[in-house]
Amino acid sequence: MTQPRDILITSALPYANGPIHIGHLVEYIQTDIWARFQKMRGHNCWYVCADDAHGTPIMLKARQEGITPEELIARVADEHRADFDGFRIGFDHYHSTHSPENRHYASLIYERNRDAGHIAKRTIEQAYDPVEQMFLPDRFIKGECPKCGAADQYGDNCEACGASYSPAELKHPHSAISGAVPEQRQSDHYFFKLADFEDLLKTWTRAGSLQGQVANKLDEWFDAGLKEWDISRDAPYFGFEMPDHPGKFFYVWLDAPIGYMASFQHLCDSPKGQAAGLHFDHFWEPESPAEVYHFIGKDIIYFHALFWPAMLHGAGFRTPTAIFAHGFLTVDGQKMSKSRGTFIKARTYLDHLNPEYLRYYFAAKLGSGVDDIDLSLDDFQARVNSDLVGKVVNIASRTAGFISKRFDGRLAAELASPALFETFAEANQRIADAYEAREYSRAVREIMILADQANQYIDEQAPWVVAKQEGRDAELQRICTQGLNLFRLLIGWLKPVLPATAEAAEQFLQIEPLTWSQLETPLLDHGIAKFKPLMTRIEPKQIEAMLEASKEDLARATS
Ligand code: MSP
Ligand code: ZN
Repeated sequence: MTQPRDILITSALPYANGPIHIGHLVEYIQTDIWARFQKMRGHNCWYVCADDAHGTPIMLKARQEGITPEELIARVADEHRADFDGFRIGFDHYHSTHSPENRHYASLIYERNRDAGHIAKRTIEQAYDPVEQMFLPDRFIKGECPKCGAADQYGDNCEACGASYSPAELKHPHSAISGAVPEQRQSDHYFFKLADFEDLLKTWTRAGSLQGQVANKLDEWFDAGLKEWDISRDAPYFGFEMPDHPGKFFYVWLDAPIGYMASFQHLCDSPKGQAAGLHFDHFWEPESPAEVYHFIGKDIIYFHALFWPAMLHGAGFRTPTAIFAHGFLTVDGQKMSKSRGTFIKARTYLDHLNPEYLRYYFAAKLGSGVDDIDLSLDDFQARVNSDLVGKVVNIASRTAGFISKRFDGRLAAELASPALFETFAEANQRIADAYEAREYSRAVREIMILADQANQYIDEQAPWVVAKQEGRDAELQRICTQGLNLFRLLIGWLKPVLPATAEAAEQFLQIEPLTWSQLETPLLDHGIAKFKPLMTRIEPKQIEAMLEASKEDLARATS
């Protein structure tokens, strides 16, 4: 194998004011597959994430519930962790942006940029709620659409006619919090001078750090001109107070990506990180040989591909190796909808279905681009049942029984067809290349073609016929050993996607956790355990029950 690489991987930090839903899971599953793949390849790979705990919505939600923001984010963090565990998202560390490490790096990055002249102060005029005594983010101003007159529209765009406008244009504006008519008030704000980094960003964009579609988007933004970015907010605000401006807070999006670093710092300081000799600077210093990748949704490209590398560079840190953006999830071709029951929370899914199914389905659909991906529920059921249950698991169930009953659980010392094993092993590299390129759908396609071949082999050899014939014992053992070895390769390749199933298969085969390089050699003359079904079929009623329960969630939420 080539030299082990040092790799740090992140997923975007979910907001701490709501539950994880299956749309989010596209991202966490996509990232987790990549992290597990890199680990199986023997790389020093670390996957971190955190809750995004700051900002006005979180402050207001806590107030609504009559608890402190700290209490709210602690409760949501527990829920998020449990949901991620349920889906086997294998974070090496899961942190919070409301943490000492994050305060440290947010202040440091701000101060270094300030000292280098990249922060400007300007006075701006903004809507102010005189009752709540706070400035109002656009989302918290409502009124009549200036274009079509629809009532009760948000301050930035109209849901009725789709027009976008500034909150000052709304007719009869009122605060969504108190109902009061907002006043215009002045306040000092601090701005990050993004245009200072235009050259850096253009070079970085063209250095292969971005997908083609994303790089094109950036070119549009460069053409439109890089605007200064408002990084401060006035009290009351749930976040970090600026070190040099009491009463002013960092805007949530300033400290959110810094949460990647904070989480990693916490990992370095933990027993696990120390045992591995992990050093923060090795990953984050300029010219670092380590690789840093951020998986994100297409809605937050601006923050990650412009502000983030610029802030890092301005503060003397390295820029990310690459940003990997993905598209949005639709269900049966439409946006997730609460009334149709397709706004499915991670928890609701887990109450009804095996998480491995969804991991597989997303893998089968995911490519390296930013196209949206559709969860078609009929297709989901059909594919999982036919591919995983019907093809992959079936190979073991067709062969394992003979090994247990007739050969005392022992595999033969040689394969029936070493040539067929070789054909399979030759796919190792192709499948690895597909995973590496985040072309999971291609990897899955390759694997399923081979699963078909493995089943075809068993059909042809018909061990159930051989078993009934005298004097063919050794042959029977070799045929079943062949079948189980092909099964082992299929499971090994699918292990990044199906960690729980792979673990059960490793127990069944009585082997150490599979790594990629082990897949080059067959498992021979080896004792295995009794076979237990590794996965059951999806029944339509499970999906129906999940959709029903999602509608009930809605009923509870609105009552
Ligand atoms: N808190 C910010 C990210 C800060 S990263 C420094 C945020 N949070 S989020 O909870 O709204 O979204 C978290 C991630 O999930 C984002 O990458 C977002 O694109 C992704 N998704 C949220 N809904 C999604 C779908 N319906 N489909 C696919 N991905 C989705 O943004
Ligand atoms: Zn309108």
